[in-house]
Amino acid sequence: MGINEVKHITVIGAGSMGHQIAMLCALGGYETKLQDIQETALQKAKESLHFQMSKWVKKGKISQEDLDRAFSRLVFTTSLEEAAVNTDFVIEAVVEKLAVKRELFEKLDRLTPPHAILATNSSTIINSQIADVTSRPEKVCNMHFFFPPLVMDCVEVVMSEQTSEETAQITMDVCEQINRTAVLLKKEIWGFVANRLLFALHAEAIKLYEDGICDFKDIDIITKKALNHPLGPFELMDLSGIDVGYFAQEQRYKETGDPKDKPAKCIEEKVKAGTLGRKTGNGWYDYEQVEVKK
Ligand SMILES: NC(=O)c1ccc[n+]([C@@H]2O[C@H](COP(=O)([O-])OP(=O)(O)OC[C@H]3O[C@@H](n4cnc5c(N)ncnc54)[C@H](O)[C@@H]3O)[C@@H](O)[C@H]2O)c1
Repeated sequence: MGINEVKHITVIGAGSMGHQIAMLCALGGYETKLQDIQETALQKAKESLHFQMSKWVKKGKISQEDLDRAFSRLVFTTSLEEAAVNTDFVIEAVVEKLAVKRELFEKLDRLTPPHAILATNSSTIINSQIADVTSRPEKVCNMHFFFPPLVMDCVEVVMSEQTSEETAQITMDVCEQINRTAVLLKKEIWGFVANRLLFALHAEAIKLYEDGICDFKDIDIITKKALNHPLGPFELMDLSGIDVGYFAQEQRYKETGDPKDKPAKCIEEKVKAGTLGRKTGNGWYDYEQVEVKK
Protein backbone atom coordinates (compact mmCIF):
# COMPACT_ATOMS: atom_id res chain seq x y z
CA MET A 1 0.00 0.00 0.00
CA GLY A 2 1.11 3.60 -0.62
CA ILE A 3 -0.11 6.92 0.77
CA ASN A 4 -2.37 7.38 -2.27
CA GLU A 5 -4.38 4.37 -1.26
CA VAL A 6 -5.17 5.87 2.15
CA LYS A 7 -8.61 7.43 1.71
CA HIS A 8 -10.48 6.43 4.88
CA ILE A 9 -9.22 7.03 8.41
CA THR A 10 -10.82 5.76 11.59
CA VAL A 11 -10.15 7.37 14.97
CA ILE A 12 -11.17 5.32 18.01
CA GLY A 13 -11.90 7.25 21.22
CA ALA A 14 -13.48 10.71 21.10
CA GLY A 15 -11.90 12.14 24.26
CA SER A 16 -9.47 15.05 24.68
CA MET A 17 -7.18 13.72 21.95
CA GLY A 18 -9.32 11.64 19.60
CA HIS A 19 -11.90 14.23 18.59
CA GLN A 20 -9.24 16.73 17.57
CA ILE A 21 -7.17 14.10 15.74
CA ALA A 22 -10.31 13.17 13.78
CA MET A 23 -10.85 16.83 12.88
CA LEU A 24 -7.25 17.07 11.61
CA CYS A 25 -7.88 14.03 9.41
CA ALA A 26 -11.10 15.48 7.99
CA LEU A 27 -9.36 18.81 7.39
CA GLY A 28 -6.58 16.89 5.61
CA GLY A 29 -9.12 15.54 3.13
CA TYR A 30 -9.69 12.06 4.57
CA GLU A 31 -13.09 10.42 4.88
CA THR A 32 -12.98 10.11 8.66
CA LYS A 33 -14.96 8.09 11.17
CA LEU A 34 -14.73 8.91 14.86
CA GLN A 35 -15.88 6.06 17.10
CA ASP A 36 -16.45 5.96 20.86
CA ILE A 37 -18.32 3.52 23.09
CA GLN A 38 -20.09 6.45 24.74
CA GLU A 39 -22.70 8.42 22.81
CA THR A 40 -22.17 11.32 25.24
CA ALA A 41 -18.47 11.50 24.33
CA LEU A 42 -19.38 11.76 20.64
CA GLN A 43 -21.97 14.43 21.33
CA LYS A 44 -19.45 16.42 23.37
CA ALA A 45 -16.84 15.97 20.63
CA LYS A 46 -19.22 17.27 17.98
CA GLU A 47 -20.19 20.33 20.02
CA SER A 48 -16.62 21.09 20.97
CA LEU A 49 -15.37 20.82 17.37
CA HIS A 50 -18.11 23.08 16.00
CA PHE A 51 -17.28 25.62 18.71
CA GLN A 52 -13.50 25.49 18.20
CA MET A 53 -13.61 25.46 14.42
CA SER A 54 -16.01 28.41 14.27
CA LYS A 55 -13.21 30.36 15.97
CA TRP A 56 -10.85 29.32 13.16
CA VAL A 57 -13.36 30.72 10.66
CA LYS A 58 -13.65 34.00 12.61
CA LYS A 59 -9.85 34.29 12.72
CA GLY A 60 -9.64 33.65 8.97
CA LYS A 61 -7.64 30.41 9.41
CA ILE A 62 -10.16 28.54 7.27
CA SER A 63 -13.11 29.48 5.05
CA GLN A 64 -16.64 28.45 6.04
CA GLU A 65 -16.89 26.43 2.79
CA ASP A 66 -13.71 24.44 3.54
CA LEU A 67 -14.88 23.84 7.08
CA ASP A 68 -18.30 22.64 5.89
CA ARG A 69 -16.53 20.27 3.48
CA ALA A 70 -14.34 18.95 6.31
CA PHE A 71 -17.38 18.35 8.54
CA SER A 72 -19.12 16.55 5.66
CA ARG A 73 -16.18 14.10 5.66
CA LEU A 74 -16.46 13.45 9.41
CA VAL A 75 -18.82 10.75 10.70
CA PHE A 76 -19.50 10.04 14.39
CA THR A 77 -20.46 6.53 15.44
CA THR A 78 -20.66 4.20 18.43
CA SER A 79 -20.39 1.16 16.16
CA LEU A 80 -16.88 -0.28 15.94
CA GLU A 81 -17.98 -2.47 13.03
CA GLU A 82 -19.18 0.55 11.06
CA ALA A 83 -16.01 2.51 11.88
CA ALA A 84 -13.70 -0.35 10.90
CA VAL A 85 -15.38 -1.83 7.83
CA ASN A 86 -13.62 -0.11 4.93
CA THR A 87 -10.88 1.80 6.67
CA ASP A 88 -7.29 2.12 5.45
CA PHE A 89 -5.76 3.59 8.58
CA VAL A 90 -6.79 3.49 12.26
CA ILE A 91 -5.62 5.87 14.99
CA GLU A 92 -6.48 4.50 18.44
CA ALA A 93 -6.96 7.13 21.17
CA VAL A 94 -8.87 5.33 23.94
CA VAL A 95 -8.05 5.32 27.67
CA GLU A 96 -4.45 4.65 28.67
CA LYS A 97 -5.06 1.07 29.83
CA LEU A 98 -3.07 -1.72 28.25
CA ALA A 99 -5.82 -4.34 28.62
CA VAL A 100 -8.40 -2.08 26.94
CA LYS A 101 -6.05 -1.32 24.06
CA ARG A 102 -5.12 -4.97 23.57
CA GLU A 103 -8.77 -6.03 23.47
CA LEU A 104 -9.53 -3.27 20.99
CA PHE A 105 -6.62 -4.14 18.67
CA GLU A 106 -7.68 -7.76 18.68
CA LYS A 107 -11.15 -6.65 17.49
CA LEU A 108 -9.70 -4.20 14.97
CA ASP A 109 -7.55 -6.95 13.51
CA ARG A 110 -10.73 -8.95 12.82
CA LEU A 111 -12.90 -6.05 11.65
CA THR A 112 -10.60 -3.95 9.45
CA PRO A 113 -9.41 -4.88 5.95
CA PRO A 114 -6.06 -6.75 6.01
CA HIS A 115 -4.18 -3.82 4.41
CA ALA A 116 -5.18 -1.31 7.14
CA ILE A 117 -2.50 0.21 9.36
CA LEU A 118 -3.26 0.25 13.10
CA ALA A 119 -1.59 3.12 14.97
CA THR A 120 -1.82 3.94 18.66
CA ASN A 121 -1.71 7.43 20.12
CA SER A 122 -0.66 6.10 23.56
CA SER A 123 1.66 8.41 25.50
CA THR A 124 3.49 5.61 27.27
CA ILE A 125 2.68 2.19 25.81
CA ILE A 126 5.07 1.01 23.12
CA ASN A 127 3.30 -0.61 20.17
CA SER A 128 4.94 -4.05 20.53
CA GLN A 129 3.02 -4.45 23.81
CA ILE A 130 -0.17 -4.31 21.74
CA ALA A 131 0.82 -5.58 18.28
CA ASP A 132 1.15 -9.23 19.33
CA VAL A 133 -2.64 -9.60 19.63
CA THR A 134 -2.93 -8.86 15.92
CA SER A 135 -2.03 -10.94 12.87
CA ARG A 136 -0.27 -7.89 11.36
CA PRO A 137 2.41 -6.58 13.74
CA GLU A 138 4.25 -5.13 10.73
CA LYS A 139 1.29 -2.76 10.26
CA VAL A 140 1.25 -1.51 13.87
CA CYS A 141 3.10 1.58 15.13
CA ASN A 142 2.88 4.46 17.60
CA MET A 143 1.57 7.79 16.37
CA HIS A 144 1.98 10.08 19.35
CA PHE A 145 0.20 13.43 19.07
CA PHE A 146 0.47 16.17 21.68
CA PHE A 147 -2.29 17.95 23.54
CA PRO A 148 -4.17 19.76 22.08
CA PRO A 149 -3.68 18.13 18.65
CA LEU A 150 -5.39 20.96 16.75
CA VAL A 151 -2.69 23.29 18.09
CA MET A 152 0.43 21.23 18.71
CA ASP A 153 2.40 20.66 15.53
CA CYS A 154 4.34 17.51 16.36
CA VAL A 155 3.80 13.76 16.10
CA GLU A 156 6.26 11.08 17.19
CA VAL A 157 5.98 8.05 14.90
CA VAL A 158 7.58 5.05 16.58
CA MET A 159 8.55 1.74 14.99
CA SER A 160 8.89 -1.54 16.85
CA GLU A 161 11.28 -4.22 15.60
CA GLN A 162 8.36 -5.62 13.64
CA THR A 163 6.92 -2.41 12.19
CA SER A 164 7.63 -2.34 8.46
CA GLU A 165 9.35 0.54 6.67
CA GLU A 166 6.20 0.85 4.54
CA THR A 167 4.00 1.31 7.61
CA ALA A 168 6.35 3.94 9.03
CA GLN A 169 6.52 5.79 5.72
CA ILE A 170 2.75 5.83 5.20
CA THR A 171 2.23 7.05 8.78
CA MET A 172 4.75 9.85 8.21
CA ASP A 173 2.96 10.73 4.95
CA VAL A 174 -0.43 10.80 6.70
CA CYS A 175 1.04 13.27 9.22
CA GLU A 176 2.20 15.48 6.36
CA GLN A 177 -1.21 15.29 4.73
CA ILE A 178 -2.90 16.41 7.97
CA ASN A 179 -0.41 19.26 8.32
CA ARG A 180 1.61 17.92 11.26
CA THR A 181 5.37 17.70 11.60
CA ALA A 182 6.26 14.07 12.16
CA VAL A 183 9.49 12.70 13.57
CA LEU A 184 10.40 9.03 13.12
CA LEU A 185 11.83 6.99 16.00
CA LYS A 186 13.27 3.80 14.58
CA LYS A 187 13.42 2.07 17.97
CA GLU A 188 10.89 1.79 20.75
CA ILE A 189 11.78 3.46 24.01
CA TRP A 190 9.72 4.22 27.12
CA GLY A 191 8.48 7.83 27.01
CA PHE A 192 9.63 8.26 23.39
CA VAL A 193 11.61 11.52 23.08
CA ALA A 194 9.43 14.43 24.19
CA ASN A 195 8.32 12.85 27.47
CA ARG A 196 11.83 11.59 28.27
CA LEU A 197 13.14 15.14 27.94
CA LEU A 198 10.24 16.46 29.98
CA PHE A 199 10.61 13.84 32.73
CA ALA A 200 14.36 14.50 32.93
CA LEU A 201 13.72 18.23 33.36
CA HIS A 202 11.04 17.61 35.97
CA ALA A 203 13.20 15.13 37.91
CA GLU A 204 16.07 17.61 38.07
CA ALA A 205 13.74 20.47 39.05
CA ILE A 206 12.24 18.37 41.87
CA LYS A 207 15.72 17.36 43.10
CA LEU A 208 16.90 20.98 43.18
CA TYR A 209 13.80 21.88 45.17
CA GLU A 210 14.03 18.92 47.60
CA ASP A 211 17.76 19.62 48.14
CA GLY A 212 16.81 23.15 49.19
CA ILE A 213 18.85 24.81 46.41
CA CYS A 214 16.00 27.23 45.78
CA ASP A 215 12.26 27.58 45.98
CA PHE A 216 10.08 25.94 43.30
CA LYS A 217 8.83 29.36 42.20
CA ASP A 218 12.42 30.43 41.52
CA ILE A 219 13.05 27.26 39.50
CA ASP A 220 10.00 28.16 37.39
CA ILE A 221 11.30 31.73 36.95
CA ILE A 222 14.75 30.51 35.87
CA THR A 223 13.24 27.97 33.44
CA LYS A 224 11.13 30.67 31.82
CA LYS A 225 13.52 33.62 31.88
CA ALA A 226 16.85 31.84 31.29
CA LEU A 227 15.76 28.91 29.12
CA ASN A 228 12.84 30.65 27.44
CA HIS A 229 10.34 27.88 28.21
CA PRO A 230 6.73 29.12 28.17
CA LEU A 231 6.02 27.44 31.54
CA GLY A 232 8.16 26.33 34.45
CA PRO A 233 8.21 22.62 35.43
CA PHE A 234 6.07 23.19 38.54
CA GLU A 235 3.54 25.25 36.60
CA LEU A 236 3.40 22.50 33.99
CA MET A 237 2.88 19.80 36.64
CA ASP A 238 -0.05 21.82 37.98
CA LEU A 239 -1.48 22.17 34.49
CA SER A 240 -1.30 18.51 33.52
CA GLY A 241 -2.19 17.20 37.00
CA ILE A 242 0.41 16.18 39.61
CA ASP A 243 -1.27 12.76 39.88
CA VAL A 244 -0.83 12.10 36.13
CA GLY A 245 2.96 12.35 36.41
CA TYR A 246 2.91 10.46 39.72
CA PHE A 247 1.03 7.46 38.30
CA ALA A 248 3.26 7.33 35.21
CA GLN A 249 6.33 7.40 37.47
CA GLU A 250 4.87 4.76 39.80
CA GLN A 251 4.17 2.48 36.84
CA ARG A 252 7.70 3.03 35.56
CA TYR A 253 9.14 2.20 39.01
CA LYS A 254 7.09 -1.01 39.13
CA GLU A 255 8.59 -2.02 35.79
CA THR A 256 12.24 -1.15 36.44
CA GLY A 257 12.59 -1.38 40.25
CA ASP A 258 15.24 1.31 39.84
CA PRO A 259 15.22 3.70 42.87
CA LYS A 260 15.80 6.68 40.57
CA ASP A 261 12.39 5.98 38.99
CA LYS A 262 10.58 6.12 42.34
CA PRO A 263 8.13 9.06 42.60
CA ALA A 264 9.66 11.92 44.61
CA LYS A 265 8.58 12.42 48.22
CA CYS A 266 7.19 15.93 47.65
CA ILE A 267 5.08 14.64 44.74
CA GLU A 268 3.76 11.71 46.76
CA GLU A 269 2.74 14.10 49.55
CA LYS A 270 0.77 16.27 47.15
CA VAL A 271 -1.02 13.25 45.66
CA LYS A 272 -1.91 11.93 49.15
CA ALA A 273 -3.18 15.39 50.16
CA GLY A 274 -5.28 15.60 46.97
CA THR A 275 -3.65 18.87 45.92
CA LEU A 276 -3.21 17.89 42.30
CA GLY A 277 -2.83 21.22 40.50
CA ARG A 278 -5.25 23.43 38.64
CA LYS A 279 -8.02 20.82 38.56
CA THR A 280 -8.26 20.74 42.38
CA GLY A 281 -7.71 24.47 42.88
CA ASN A 282 -4.19 24.06 44.23
CA GLY A 283 -1.03 22.09 43.72
CA TRP A 284 2.32 23.83 43.69
CA TYR A 285 0.43 27.10 43.31
CA ASP A 286 -2.83 28.19 44.91
CA TYR A 287 -5.37 28.84 42.15
CA GLU A 288 -8.29 29.42 44.50
CA GLN A 289 -6.45 32.43 45.87
CA VAL A 290 -5.84 33.71 42.34
CA GLU A 291 -9.56 33.41 41.62
CA VAL A 292 -10.41 35.44 44.75
CA LYS A 293 -7.93 38.16 43.82
CA LYS A 294 -9.51 38.47 40.35
N1 LIG B 1 -4.40 13.87 27.14
C1 LIG B 1 -3.15 14.05 26.72
O1 LIG B 1 -2.49 15.05 27.02
C2 LIG B 1 -2.53 13.01 25.80
C3 LIG B 1 -1.45 13.38 25.00
C4 LIG B 1 -0.90 12.43 24.11
C5 LIG B 1 -1.43 11.15 24.06
N2 LIG B 1 -2.48 10.81 24.89
C6 LIG B 1 -3.00 9.44 24.78
O2 LIG B 1 -4.22 9.47 24.07
C7 LIG B 1 -5.09 8.44 24.53
C8 LIG B 1 -6.42 9.05 24.93
O3 LIG B 1 -6.21 10.02 25.91
P1 LIG B 1 -7.30 11.15 26.22
O4 LIG B 1 -6.63 12.14 27.09
O5 LIG B 1 -7.95 11.59 24.94
O6 LIG B 1 -8.35 10.29 27.07
P2 LIG B 1 -9.88 10.63 27.42
O7 LIG B 1 -10.14 9.95 28.69
O8 LIG B 1 -10.15 12.09 27.28
O9 LIG B 1 -10.71 9.90 26.24
C9 LIG B 1 -10.73 8.52 26.07
C10 LIG B 1 -11.99 8.16 25.31
O10 LIG B 1 -11.92 6.79 24.94
C11 LIG B 1 -13.21 6.24 25.05
N3 LIG B 1 -13.07 4.79 25.14
C12 LIG B 1 -12.66 4.05 26.20
N4 LIG B 1 -12.61 2.75 25.87
C13 LIG B 1 -13.00 2.67 24.57
C14 LIG B 1 -13.16 1.60 23.65
N5 LIG B 1 -12.89 0.33 23.99
N6 LIG B 1 -13.58 1.89 22.39
C15 LIG B 1 -13.85 3.15 22.04
N7 LIG B 1 -13.72 4.21 22.86
C16 LIG B 1 -13.30 3.97 24.11
C17 LIG B 1 -13.82 6.90 26.25
O11 LIG B 1 -15.23 6.82 26.23
C18 LIG B 1 -13.29 8.33 26.11
O12 LIG B 1 -14.19 9.15 25.40
C19 LIG B 1 -4.35 7.75 25.69
O13 LIG B 1 -3.71 6.60 25.19
C20 LIG B 1 -3.31 8.78 26.11
O14 LIG B 1 -2.14 8.22 26.64
C21 LIG B 1 -3.05 11.72 25.74
